[in-house]
Amino acid sequence: MTSYTELGLVNTVALFKKAVSGGFALPAYNFNNMEQLQAIIQACVETKSPVILQVSSGARKYANQNLLKNMAKGAVEYAHELGCDIPIVLHLDHGDSFELCKDCVETGFSSVMIDGSHFPYEENVALTKKVCEFAHSRKDYVSVEGELGVLAGVEDDVSSEKSHYTQPEEVEDFVKKTGVDSLAISIGTSHGRAKFKPEQCTRDPNGILIPPPLRFDILEEIEKKIPGFPIVLHGASSVPIEYVKIIEQFGGKLPDSVGIPEEQLRMAAKSAVCKINIDSDGRLAMTAMIRKTFAEKPDEFDPRKYFGPARDELKKMYAEKNKNVLGSAEQA
Ligand code: G3H
Ligand code: 13P
Ligand code: ZN
Repeated sequence: MTSYTELGLVNTVALFKKAVSGGFALPAYNFNNMEQLQAIIQACVETKSPVILQVSSGARKYANQNLLKNMAKGAVEYAHELGCDIPIVLHLDHGDSFELCKDCVETGFSSVMIDGSHFPYEENVALTKKVCEFAHSRKDYVSVEGELGVLAGVEDDVSSEKSHYTQPEEVEDFVKKTGVDSLAISIGTSHGRAKFKPEQCTRDPNGILIPPPLRFDILEEIEKKIPGFPIVLHGASSVPIEYVKIIEQFGGKLPDSVGIPEEQLRMAAKSAVCKINIDSDGRLAMTAMIRKTFAEKPDEFDPRKYFGPARDELKKMYAEKNKNVLGSAEQA
């Protein structure tokens, strides 16, 4: 058994408090491999931003939980070596059972999400409460994120056929009964690179899809019910059109790609939304650069020569997000 403090990690409690009062959101970036982790740490050190490193169930299967845990420990040392001891959280993304959350807590994660959003309300409450009781009773308090409302969208390990918005009248009761430290809500974001069906969108004069706006009215209602309580937004990639275009220019096919406009994320970050989850944008940035390198240098076969540019682009994108979208730069 390992405690996250031995790894140099922190939980989310103090970070969220500062984010809510300071009107910014913490970046929660998913990682599955070394290049993604290097890019995240380089970007967050350069912008002096705290960061939440997210490990999904898919990442655990792909990369091995122990390896990822030790990579997070390495990330703490790497940030130190780069010259800034930014606060680093290691977070389980979309935990789907008590056993998985317990395992992560005992492995050294400093934060876990229990995603009971697909269950009936009372079942979600009971499961989330059980995880909180366990995680909070550790010598080193592990923070817990719960979820109310269901996001649309499909990814490997996170799928939902039917979405529904969070009901503001449930949030106070949920927070009180479960003891969660933060709450993920559904106000129109969704996972993946095609967040809305074309028929839900309008088009600009160039034919680019314009998504329907997020339901800030629901967010406001929620904030009134639980003032100052940390809110989390999943499915918050912007799906930059530049990356989609590069991918398609070099042989990829990503029809009907559409994300959440940065302006709306900026607005959310200024509210009680204090954690913004971004994974798909990182996938797009890396894929764009890898496809470009393969097309322009067909004789290249050293992985460092295509992972390197992909990593550099990823770092640039994350630094921009910290500075210009989330507002987390200079908050470490
Ligand atoms: O919310 C889901 C994340 O994007 C992780 O996706 O399960 O394919 O790693 P994944
Ligand atoms: P995106 O697919 O929009 O990047 O969302 C990621 C996420 O919510 C991870 O939990
Ligand atoms: Zn998510």
